[in-house]
Amino acid sequence: MGWDSPLIDLFFSNQFLQITTTVPSTSVYGFGEHEHPTFKHNMNFVTYGMYARDQAPTSFANLYGVHPFYMCVEPDANAHGVLLLNSNAQDVTLSPNPSLTFRTIGGILDFYLFMGPTPENVVQQYTEAIGRPHMPAYWALGFQLSRWGYNSLDVLKETVDRMKRYDIPYDVQHYDIDYMERRLDFTYDKVNFAGLPEFIKEMKKNGKHNVLILDPFIAKDEEPGTYRPYELGQEMGVWVNNSDGVTPAVGQAWPPGDCVFPDYSNPRTVEWWTQLCLEFKDVLDYDGIWIDMNEPSNFMRGQIPGCADTEINNPPYIPSISDRSLAEKTLCPDSKTYLGDHYNTHSLFGWSQTEPTFNVVKQATGKRPFVLSRSTFVGSGKHTAHWLGDNFSLWKDLRRSVIGIMEFNLFGIPYIGADICGFNYNTTYELCLRWMQLGSFYPFSRNHNSEGNMEQDPAVFGDEFAKISRATLRIRYSLLPYLYTLFYESHVHGGTVVRSLMHEFTSDPETHGIDTAFLWGSAFMIAPVLDEASTVIKNAITLE
Ligand code: GLC
Repeated sequence: MGWDSPLIDLFFSNQFLQITTTVPSTSVYGFGEHEHPTFKHNMNFVTYGMYARDQAPTSFANLYGVHPFYMCVEPDANAHGVLLLNSNAQDVTLSPNPSLTFRTIGGILDFYLFMGPTPENVVQQYTEAIGRPHMPAYWALGFQLSRWGYNSLDVLKETVDRMKRYDIPYDVQHYDIDYMERRLDFTYDKVNFAGLPEFIKEMKKNGKHNVLILDPFIAKDEEPGTYRPYELGQEMGVWVNNSDGVTPAVGQAWPPGDCVFPDYSNPRTVEWWTQLCLEFKDVLDYDGIWIDMNEPSNFMRGQIPGCADTEINNPPYIPSISDRSLAEKTLCPDSKTYLGDHYNTHSLFGWSQTEPTFNVVKQATGKRPFVLSRSTFVGSGKHTAHWLGDNFSLWKDLRRSVIGIMEFNLFGIPYIGADICGFNYNTTYELCLRWMQLGSFYPFSRNHNSEGNMEQDPAVFGDEFAKISRATLRIRYSLLPYLYTLFYESHVHGGTVVRSLMHEFTSDPETHGIDTAFLWGSAFMIAPVLDEASTVIKNAITLE
């Protein structure tokens, strides 16, 4: 094992807790959510902050979720895992001793040790403690298509038609915020998406499944009597409040004007959300719900009119997080949620939205639920899928997606993928094709794109592209019984679906740093081309 704290730098005060431990080797993996440049960490005084944030993947930045969990492979090839169960803003410094220094600004030092001895045992023990991954529906393992900015049902229909024309395997269609009327939750655009309810029914008839996005922002300035989600929520008292505990926190996000934020840690909010999601099912017959922006995001520094200058809003130590601000792009730490001060519960917002959404999708569909959440915390895999967020159409992002996918398998969220072909920026033919090939082997395989970018679905680039995408996706589909079985194993016994080569060949130190290839279970390796203008695989495995 090897967790040995000299205690010389132990601090245990109200807003600053710190502890250092030596670790038995530099084969350290995990901590999230970040875009890590390598799967096996660089331990040369590298610090990673953890605090949920609406942040496109950028090296070293704190991203959407929080996972203070790592795995270490000891020199004798035994592995162990360690969780610091703490939801406050925190950071960890990896030093060459090798050692780890944890710093958090609240809660307690609640460590859990998982003794392995194999990496797979570590993840099984971890998910035994935090909750086993949910069992996805079989259809959810099919290829999925999405984009922000179809902007009309006509464009969406053309896309669906060409997917069919080119005979590309495809099971799920996502509907991003452009389906809504003025980005208002629980509405649809009756002009640009006129006929959407009938279209979804038609899709279902053709065997497709449909996933709708919902954001945790409710517009508060609509004409009285016209927007029930706000009025019902107001009546039921379901919002995150200001520091006084009674007036709702008001910020700005996608919907027009100002908005309020549902506090999913409040049972009243769960009732409100459940009711609205059930009613909406009668309008748009969805099969799953995509919950986005739930860090929670807010397009300002704190709610209106800004945060008071207090110790809770500006603590003496701010962990190594972007902007060195707890309020940037979110709410003030002194806001009140049912569970406690936002200072303590901020990174639990997405987590608290996930279980109620899982339950209502189950109730609404009568089937195994599909939920896709952007923000996650320890234990989220029990109720949700995740994607790696607003990546870029860059070769670097293609490569690093492999690392993210392996990491989320350590975090107990095996149903994981990255936006195939990249979300931000225009993609290129070659990058997108390589990404379709790699993405055909993401557990959650979805091509998604941002507003204003060129189209990038696998049917838009012509014959050759479609032929190659069809071929790799067909390999995926031919292996679905295996993938589904791996999910079953993971659901019942914990453990990973995708794993690194280190995970299976732990006693071979050569494998410890490999992060350009990965395995499905123990029996199938995927070694994708990750470099531009390349037709050979470099650096994956050296065959001598
Ligand atoms: C966020 C999501 C992205 C989505 C967009 C519009 O940026 O991460 O996937 O397309 O919002 O809803």
